Amino acid sequence: MKTASRRTLPKVLVIHGPNLQLLGQRNPSVYGRVTLSAINRDLQAQARRLGASLTVLQSNHEGGIVDAIGKARGWYDGILINPAAYTHTSVAIRDALEAADLPAVEVHLSNIHARESFRRTSLIAPVVAGQVAGFGANSYTLGLAALIGLLPHHPASAHPGRPKELRSRLRRGRRVVGLTSRRGKR
Ligand code: DQA
Repeated sequence: MKTASRRTLPKVLVIHGPNLQLLGQRNPSVYGRVTLSAINRDLQAQARRLGASLTVLQSNHEGGIVDAIGKARGWYDGILINPAAYTHTSVAIRDALEAADLPAVEVHLSNIHARESFRRTSLIAPVVAGQVAGFGANSYTLGLAALIGLLPHHPASAHPGRPKELRSRLRRGRRVVGLTSRRGKR
């Protein structure tokens, strides 16, 4: 699998789908009062702590999102995506994620499974590693932590593809970039 070069920090592409630029004003009882810029600021800070770099994109256009995913391979190591309304309709975004063949995590502020029936289907879920939904802005930070844990070359990763020595350090519970494996606390 072609991934971004190992020269630099692991790179994550964050994609926010349609209408998410309105966060803070849009249906606060469902989506909360946190703005998209505050979410992005928190993600950048979390990425710095975890030793990753982030590029953030918001688009209201399906084709723009498909283009960004299509170009991600070779440049990014993973994708964090809230496809918003396209979650429920976009075969094109689903296919783009599948073709990119990068670790990806789907996030939603609201619990889409507890809302209208049309929101309970995600066309995206079958092609991503997992979905985090229902925790408001925290869905993004939980999703980013989960994604970084999947990146094969990140020191905090338990991915089987990572170098042997690092894997065994993790198994022994050594502290790696500020994260302590639970085993280390025994
Ligand atoms: C959303 C849920 C979608 O159903 C909706 O269309 C959105 C936001 C969420 O984050 O909860 O725009 O993805």
